Amino acid sequence: PNEPPLVFHWFPLIGSTITYGMDPPRFFKENREKYGDCFTFILLGKKTTVYVGPKGNDFILNGKIRDVNAEEIYTVLTTPVFGKDVVYDCPNSKLMEQKKFMKIALTTEAFRQYVPIISDEVTSYLKRTADFKGKSGIVDIPPKMAQITIFTASHALQGKEIRDKFDETLADLYHDLDMGFSPINFMLHWAPLPWNNRRDYAQRTVAKIYMDTIKERRARGETGAQDIMWHLMNSTYKGDVPVPDHEIAHMMIALLMAGQHSSSSTSSWIMLRLASRPDIMEDLYNEQVKNLGADLPPLTYEDLAKLPLHAAIVKETLRLHAPIHSIMRAVKTPMPVPGTKYVIPTDHVLLAAPGVSATDEAYFPQPDLWEPHRWEKDSPLAPTIVRNVASEEDDEKIDYGYGLVSKGANSPYLPFGAGRHRCIGEQFANVQLQTILAIIVRNFKFRNVDGSDKVIGTDYASLFSRPLEPAKIYWERREG
Ligand code: HEM
Repeated sequence: PNEPPLVFHWFPLIGSTITYGMDPPRFFKENREKYGDCFTFILLGKKTTVYVGPKGNDFILNGKIRDVNAEEIYTVLTTPVFGKDVVYDCPNSKLMEQKKFMKIALTTEAFRQYVPIISDEVTSYLKRTADFKGKSGIVDIPPKMAQITIFTASHALQGKEIRDKFDETLADLYHDLDMGFSPINFMLHWAPLPWNNRRDYAQRTVAKIYMDTIKERRARGETGAQDIMWHLMNSTYKGDVPVPDHEIAHMMIALLMAGQHSSSSTSSWIMLRLASRPDIMEDLYNEQVKNLGADLPPLTYEDLAKLPLHAAIVKETLRLHAPIHSIMRAVKTPMPVPGTKYVIPTDHVLLAAPGVSATDEAYFPQPDLWEPHRWEKDSPLAPTIVRNVASEEDDEKIDYGYGLVSKGANSPYLPFGAGRHRCIGEQFANVQLQTILAIIVRNFKFRNVDGSDKVIGTDYASLFSRPLEPAKIYWERREG
């Protein structure tokens, strides 16, 4: 009786699955206009309650552990891909410890090593790739960015021995793992279908590659590179319990998979947006010349801090193109929604969509305009309330077990989520994306093939949203 309003639909089980699935952001916006910030719709037969806006973000993402649960929703998809006993195939307290282990390797010191690694990978990729040979050409961006992302992420996060295997077997195996993330697998994850069989074979094979590497390192008594695998091998759970090899292997898979789609989609959007705004690409080039020197020396981690427009590009692109449009939680106890008469019952799933507030006029003037300069102080398009949120609420920190994170999820801009499930990869993603961007800007000028300022639509058919393909742009090599 005190449930939020139910979105009108014709068929009981299908409900709004189709309209939601085709364009989730539009679905959220249209229904928000009809029903308010909190409403329920039927997704594959399940009552799914959306709560948009900063209050909704906070309500869901900072929900108490006894009230909301992520693993119940995600495990069917992630466990066959990552493997057992990690992330959503274990109690939340164990995930919090695992996030601490993973995060420990993502330090400033590590990032200092990653920037040259990432730059070199991008440079070498641009040199050896046929589609970038010559003075100019046309290229379908997303497949290229997917490759650049996997080469840079695997080299930085997993070391050279694993990176080199991506030229051989690992690329295909990870592709098969990926197929496990099709939304259809929310229902068919268990089915002995060809792509699920390939997924399971790939999971076993990739896990074995990591476990063999761990054994070799142990046999050699290796203390060399202090990479993520090294950190995981030297981490212990509470009570001094070492992390079993299979869990290390599964966390290595999870780390790479978690970053791959979101980073690859974001870097594609960055390149496509630049093609639609060649003037901004020139601003970026000039920023590098001005702040790093006309000879454009090899990029360092310290340089990134001198390139605020490069940082703003990532920020602005994630505002309009956050790859994770729906964050879901199972409801474990009836949850009263503060300030309303609603109580969310335990047979509902909660859905947070921070992308809605990130494109809301109330917080971002001309919300649909991609304008990286809006993140500059005193820009007429500067976010209105975000700055207050950042200075007041974000000061309050909380530790869920994996390090301090900002307590306030009461923000309209949360591309990396909030609360106990918040992203640990934000800094890495920023380092990776800004470095890739800087190197591309040094090499190319982009524009749309037809010279227009159009941008392609979004593909919502897989779990992470990304540009529709093909998404071709025209490139021209930057001379001297
Ligand atoms: C969690 C976004 C890159 C590792 C999350 C969440 C979001 C997110 C929204 C919260 C999910 C939820 O609450 O259910 C992004 C975006 C990225 C990115 C937009 C890039 C642009 C990465 C990278 C890594 C990573 C590079 C690894 C190095 C993780 C992990 C979690 C997470 C381990 C925790 C999941 C949990 O606690 O349930 N990310 N991410 N992410 N992300 Fe990222």
